[in-house]
Amino acid sequence: MANEINTIGVLTSGGDAPGMNAAIRAVVREAIIKGKKVMGIKRGYAGLLQEEITEMNARSVSDIIQRGGTILQTARCQEFTTPAGQKKGADICRKHGIDGVIVIGGDGSFRGAQKLAANGINTVGVPGTIDLDIACTDYTIGFDTAVNTAMDAIDKVRDTSTSHERCSIIEVMGRGAGFIALWCGIANGAENVLLPEKYDYDEQALVNNIIESRKQGKQHHLIINAEGIGHSTSLAKRIEAATGIETRATILGYMQRGGSPTARDRMQASIMGAYAVDILCDGKSNRIVGEKNGRMFDIDIDEALAMDKSVGDYEYLVSCNLSK
Ligand code: ADP
Ligand code: F6P
Repeated sequence: MANEINTIGVLTSGGDAPGMNAAIRAVVREAIIKGKKVMGIKRGYAGLLQEEITEMNARSVSDIIQRGGTILQTARCQEFTTPAGQKKGADICRKHGIDGVIVIGGDGSFRGAQKLAANGINTVGVPGTIDLDIACTDYTIGFDTAVNTAMDAIDKVRDTSTSHERCSIIEVMGRGAGFIALWCGIANGAENVLLPEKYDYDEQALVNNIIESRKQGKQHHLIINAEGIGHSTSLAKRIEAATGIETRATILGYMQRGGSPTARDRMQASIMGAYAVDILCDGKSNRIVGEKNGRMFDIDIDEALAMDKSVGDYEYLVSCNLSK
């Protein structure tokens, strides 16, 4: 692996997340301040294998800190999951003089970074996913914006749900993780939250809870359903049949991945992007940047990918207690 880093590549990979642009901007400008050359790699590992690589300067990242999405665009790339694809990617980096690559993405993208490192290219990962499901870190770029977007949308559904005295099931993203659902459950004051980590599929208990809360004088019944549970539309039909209460399903979908990043996402993405450049220039490789208890740190990718993370038991208990 390179001892001295002269040229840094940067790519975004996996699902996009608001704040990725702030991270790209930080990488480019921190690297330039340190006298390094920066190459933007478009469309993640797919763009690397297609050699979609162009030099970036400080002006390449003007006017992007406030924008959702990623100016480098993102893609999923099957070829890069093969040893031949990974070697080709590393050879292309060497051909373009790239000594180190900063990968902004989720767990899958970090597995790619691990393979690039094994093929002789220094790598640092920056956690970017709305799902918050990267075990080694308390913060991932985009979660704060996504959860605020979902919360605003759910407030709107709540208005109409109350007016019509309906039960509303709102499905939020998160792949196999329930972080967005749990946060919305508490922040929106939902009556039920169905999390992949906790829901036992006891639908009768759910139905009983809806009937009971109606008896207690509740005018609506909000159920936040995590994507990992899914099937919101069919669940709505079954609940309506079992309770006699009009029930509607709303699947929030991709709106949660877009939009202007919150102050927190802009701030943290900027710090993480700069930190990634700093440790890459210090000669570190195969690392992920993380944040715990308000402090930045970096950790070996192999170690980080072996860690587990789940929604907090206490937060889940509170969401249940406060919904009565
Ligand atoms: P995320 O980074 O958000 O978890 P994915 O799991 O889709 O998203 O991974 C993004 C990309 O990372 C994949 O399309 C693939 O190119 C690369 N990748 C994923 N897993 C591996 C792996 N085991 N080895 C090499 N590359 C991988
Ligand atoms: O990882 C972010 C995410 O939005 C998940 O919440 C969701 O399951 C997935 O990406 C959807 O991915 P795609 O863009 O491939 O539909």
